[in-house]
Amino acid sequence: MNMGDRVGEFAFFDYEPGEADMASEVIEGLKGEPKQISPKYFYDQRGSELFEAITELEEYYLTRTELGLFEAHLDEVASLLGDNLCVVEYGSGSSLKIRKLLEAVTPNAYVPIDISQEHLKANAQRLYEDYPWLRVYPVCADFSQPLTLPAVTDGLRKVGFFPGSSIGNFEPSAACQFLTNVHSELGSGGALLIGVDRKKPVEILVDAYNDAKGVTAEFNLNVLSHLNARLRATFDIQQFDHDARYNEHDGCIQMFLRSRTDQVVEVDGQPVRFDLDEELHTENSYKFHPEEFLAIAAEAGFKQTRQWTDEQDWFALFLLEAL
Ligand SMILES: C[S@@+](CC[C@H](N)C(=O)[O-])C[C@H]1O[C@@H](n2cnc3c(N)ncnc32)[C@H](O)[C@@H]1O
Repeated sequence: MNMGDRVGEFAFFDYEPGEADMASEVIEGLKGEPKQISPKYFYDQRGSELFEAITELEEYYLTRTELGLFEAHLDEVASLLGDNLCVVEYGSGSSLKIRKLLEAVTPNAYVPIDISQEHLKANAQRLYEDYPWLRVYPVCADFSQPLTLPAVTDGLRKVGFFPGSSIGNFEPSAACQFLTNVHSELGSGGALLIGVDRKKPVEILVDAYNDAKGVTAEFNLNVLSHLNARLRATFDIQQFDHDARYNEHDGCIQMFLRSRTDQVVEVDGQPVRFDLDEELHTENSYKFHPEEFLAIAAEAGFKQTRQWTDEQDWFALFLLEAL
């Protein structure tokens, strides 16, 4: 089809993700043992920019390896998917990856879902300008909660897109719950294209999350600035250090912020005490053997259509079908 024949459309859907819940969720995590915070709070405007910078780092093999798989296999993905499609991207950010997918698959509609409102709006608008034949319906929402896709996409076959091994940010049971929600959002007969980071030698993993330029450290520390801005918190980021290490037992990289001193920080008017060397757990990035991932996907109602991996077996791309 000549894309010039198609007429695009742009509409923004704000599902107002949990502004009111943020304070109680964050404080509960900060008062827990160990202290923790959801990685979704990394992504204010600065956090989204820092993540983009991470994807270009030498040590961060994930993005370039996944892009290599796209380069090699997206034509096949497109022919397996057919026509009359709506691509739904969970956590859209502003990556190059979606452009590659849109160009290969030429869907009728694209629904980027992201919690970072301004970043989402700006990037979705830019995509609409660059692909005037596309119907673009950004949804500002928390994708870890069940949601209903805008009715304007009814009648199109849904293709979920979840690249970057973001699935690894969920604990395995939460990953299964997330995929179960995705299954019901896409509907039976939908498809899911998902990038998954594989288990590999520990040094490679540890280097990827401890880059020499300190960008990952800045990204990790930025969560505290985000809390200062959103929850009137009083974190002094100079008083915390970044750490990322591999948890062999759980098969995941874990990121922490370690307190450099005994200190009391206020968050939304409530005192939170940190002891010297006490850690705040900020992110998990689970790594998978392909069969481990497929077992979780099967429990959520997905069946593998095709699987591709790179020459080093570092990263896997799965096309799944929602049964
Ligand atoms: C790691 S980036 C991935 C961007 C892009 N898809 C890629 O693979 O390069 C994660 C994106 O997901 C968004 N995000 C993280 N947690 C989210 C959540 N619970 N709900 C909605 N968006 C979320 C962030 O704002 C960010 O833009």
